[in-house]
Amino acid sequence: MKVIGVSSVNDTGSEAFAGEQAERTNKIKIKTMTNLQWTDEYSVKNAEIDEQHKEFIRICNEILSLKDKESFPKEEGIKKVLQLGDYAFYHLDAEEKLFNESEYPKKEVHIKAHNQFREKTKSLIEQVRSENSDIQNVILDAAQFAGTWLLDHIGSMDKQYVKYL
Ligand SMILES: [Fe+2]
Repeated sequence: MKVIGVSSVNDTGSEAFAGEQAERTNKIKIKTMTNLQWTDEYSVKNAEIDEQHKEFIRICNEILSLKDKESFPKEEGIKKVLQLGDYAFYHLDAEEKLFNESEYPKKEVHIKAHNQFREKTKSLIEQVRSENSDIQNVILDAAQFAGTWLLDHIGSMDKQYVKYL
């Protein structure tokens, strides 16, 4: 059977075609971004840390909700990502202080996971601060990344220090 290459059909204007496709894919990606939810199963049985986790998720959701506005408020988005970064760093420091004062045996590996998140967050903040034509996606991706990281991290790591606090 003879297979006809699709690319030859789009030789003229293929760049524009690729651009349109990328834009469509982007729109779909943004539409499928959903708000994150803290539920009781994420509790680490420490009221202070639970409140911080909830606040962290609340800020992420505030950013994700910006996608529903008719025209994307870039300045507000940038401000909120910087706020999220500050809050995330404050929270990780508070958590480390808490378990450093305990007998929790996995402090080092836990701090390593925090540090990886800190590095990734710093680079996202740099992207948000720089002149970026794709700023809407950078902002939404930052919130989506931070929020899903947190929920996953609570389940896989934070739950382990619970019995040592
Ligand atoms: Fe943690």
